[in-house]
Amino acid sequence: MVKIAVLVSGGGTNLQALIDAQNKVIKSGKISLVISNKEGAYALERAKKAGIESKVVLKKELGSQEAFEEKIIEILEEKGIELIILAGFMSILSENFTKKYDKRIINVHPSLIPSFCGEGFYGLRVHEAALKKGVKVTGATVHFVNEIPDGGEIILQKAVNIKKNDTPETLQKRVMEIAEWKILPKATEMVCKNLKK
Ligand code: GAR
Repeated sequence: MVKIAVLVSGGGTNLQALIDAQNKVIKSGKISLVISNKEGAYALERAKKAGIESKVVLKKELGSQEAFEEKIIEILEEKGIELIILAGFMSILSENFTKKYDKRIINVHPSLIPSFCGEGFYGLRVHEAALKKGVKVTGATVHFVNEIPDGGEIILQKAVNIKKNDTPETLQKRVMEIAEWKILPKATEMVCKNLKK
């Protein structure tokens, strides 16, 4: 089994989708650790309920991005983590970090990359931008993480139609249900299988 760490910042519905897919869609990896960069994130509750060890790492306590990333790396190495999943992790990792885990970090992004992605496009903002532009189709993307925000190789994408009366909130919910929660576990299994080869 590939040892997986999931990095989170918020509600953790994508973490939940991964937990629910364990031993079903995800057969080659095991979610062994959850790291949050926010205290009190509901994702931590989800980890607890599933019996998964979790840690909180706070940048403000460590003083710099470098120290924050070093702490995360220390924890990942201690646990022998082989694959990192960013599931609503709202912090951009430096090149130093992404180089260390080349093709071993994946991220879920709530749009069809290369639309509505990169710095400043996260969470609801992505859906606000899609609605403002008036696109008729959006979706989600799972991709490898490199030094360019949302710029790494695409693994899976799924399209979602925009409805006439969509608000950023209704669109976010539908993109999660139809796309994110489906393609993130699938991509995880694909990457785990490959890492075992
Ligand atoms: C998800 O929609 C995820 O795709 C997005 O934040 C939400 C987190 O929800 N991530 C980004 O925008 C990253 N650029 P969750 O905590 O319920 O999984």
